[in-house]
Amino acid sequence: MELNILTVCYLIASVTFILGLKMLSNPASARKGNLLAAAGMTIAILGTIFLYESDGKRLGNYVWIFGGLLIGGIIGTLAAKKIKMTAMPEMVSMFNGMGGACAALISIVEFNHLSHEMEISGITTGHTGKVLIIVLGLIIGSVSFAGSMIAWGKLNGKVKDFSFTGQNILNLLILAVALSAGAYLVYDPTQHFLLYGILALALVYGVFFVMPIGGADMPVVISLLNSFTGVAAACGGFLYDNKVMLTGGILVGAAGTLLTILMCKAMNRSLQNVLIGSFGGSKTAGAAGSTSQGLYKEISLADTAMLMSYANKVMIVPGYGLAVAQAQHVCHELEKILEEKGVEVKYAIHPVAGRMPGHMNVLLAESDVSYEKLLEMENANDEFKTCDVVLILGANDVVNPAAKNDPASPIYGMPILEVEFAKNVIVNKRSMKPGYAGIENDLFFQPKTSMLFGDAKKVLQDICAEVKMV
Ligand code: TAP
Repeated sequence: MELNILTVCYLIASVTFILGLKMLSNPASARKGNLLAAAGMTIAILGTIFLYESDGKRLGNYVWIFGGLLIGGIIGTLAAKKIKMTAMPEMVSMFNGMGGACAALISIVEFNHLSHEMEISGITTGHTGKVLIIVLGLIIGSVSFAGSMIAWGKLNGKVKDFSFTGQNILNLLILAVALSAGAYLVYDPTQHFLLYGILALALVYGVFFVMPIGGADMPVVISLLNSFTGVAAACGGFLYDNKVMLTGGILVGAAGTLLTILMCKAMNRSLQNVLIGSFGGSKTAGAAGSTSQGLYKEISLADTAMLMSYANKVMIVPGYGLAVAQAQHVCHELEKILEEKGVEVKYAIHPVAGRMPGHMNVLLAESDVSYEKLLEMENANDEFKTCDVVLILGANDVVNPAAKNDPASPIYGMPILEVEFAKNVIVNKRSMKPGYAGIENDLFFQPKTSMLFGDAKKVLQDICAEVKMV
C-alpha cells in the first residue's frame, strides 16, 4: 500500500517537473513553474525518506538525512538570496557541479555495496548492467563536477584560461583511458582499484576540458555540463530503479542539451567552435580599447531627453552593461515617465543579450517591467522601422551590423537586432571599447547614431530628470 503511495508521489513529482519546465519557457509563468517543480521535488524527497522500503526496511538515519537537508537548505537559500544577477551563471555552475559530485558519489557508494555483496556471496558475474551504469554515472558526474568548478572559478576571475599545444589530443587520450578502464571494470568488477583510477581520470578530464575555453563562453559550457549532470543523475535513477530520479535526470539532460544548441545557434557558432575556439577569452579580450578609424558623434542628456519626450515610439535595447550597472529599476522609471507623456515604450530582447539565457528578461522582470513590453528579436526587428528612437543600454555585439555585412567578422551570421532601421539610434555605454566579441561596432559610426557616454544607471537617472523638465 505504502509503496503505491510512493509511486503516486513520484508520478506527481514527475508531472510537476514537466509542467514546471514548460512554464519556465515564459517569463510570466517562470516563477510559478519553478515553485511547482520545487514542490514536486519536495514531495519526491519526503516520499523517499518516509515511504521507501528496501528488504522490508525503511531508510532510517533521519538525523543524518535531515541534518544534511538543513545544512544544504540553509547554504543554498543564503547563496541564492545573496547572489547578484550578474553572478547568476557562477551560482548555476556551482550548483550544477554539486549535482555532478552527487552522481559520482552515488556510483562510488553503490560500487562499494556491490563489491561487498560479491565478497559475501562469492558471485562475481551477472552484474554487467549495474556496473556499466555505475561507471557511466561516475565518469559523467565527475567530468561535470570538475568542469563546473573550473567554470565557476573562471566566472569569478579566480581561474585563468589555460591551454597548451596538444591539449585536445591529451584530453582525448585521458578520456579514452578512462573509458577503457571503465569497460574493463564492467568485464571484471572485482578490480576495485580501477574505480578510483577512473574517478581520477574523469576529474582531470573535466578540468582540462573547460580550462582552455574563453571565460565569456562559460554559459554555453555550463549548459552543456548541466546536461551531463542530468544524464549522470538519470544513471542514479537506473541504479535505484527510481522513476522520478530517472525522469528528472532525463529532463535536465534534454533541456541542457537543447539550451546549449539554442545558445550556439543564437551566436551563430558551432559547439565545437565554443569548445576549442577560445572566442571571447583572454586573447580576444585583449582587443578591447582598439581605436576606431571612423568618427562618431555624441549627444547631450538634454537632447536625448528632448528626442525621447517628443517621440511617438521608443524602443529600449538592453544589454550586458545594463546588468552591470544594475540600472533596471531606473530604466523602468524612465519607461513610466515617458508613457505619462504619451510615448509608447517597448523593449527589444536579443536571445543572447547579457551573459546567460534569459538574462534581460529576468533583469527587467526584477523591476516589474510588463512582459507584454518585451519583444523577442524577430518581432522587434519588424517594429524598428516604426520607432522614432532606439535607446541602446550597455548592448554592443547584439546590435553590431558586422554580423550581417562583414563575412570576415567572428560574429558574421549571428542574428542581430536591426536597430539601424529606426529614425534615431542612441547608444549608451561608458567608452568606445568593444563588447564580449572584442570587435568594433560599425553602428556607432553611422549617421543616425549618437553616443551617450556614461554608466547606464547614472545616465538613466539624469535622462529621467531631464525628461521630467521637458
Ligand atoms: P556586449 O557585447 O558584451 O556589450 C556590453 C557593453 O556594455 C560593452 O560594450 C560595455 O561597453 C557596456 N557596459 C559595460 N558596463 C556598462 C555600464 N556600467 N554602463 C553602460 N554600459 C556598460 O553585450 P551584449 O550586447 O549584451 O551581447 C552579449 C554578448 O555576450 C554576445 O556577444 C553574446 O554572444 C555573448 N554571450 C551571451 C551569452 C548569453 S546566453 N546571453 C552566453 C555567452 C556569450 P563599455 O565598456 O564601453 O561601457
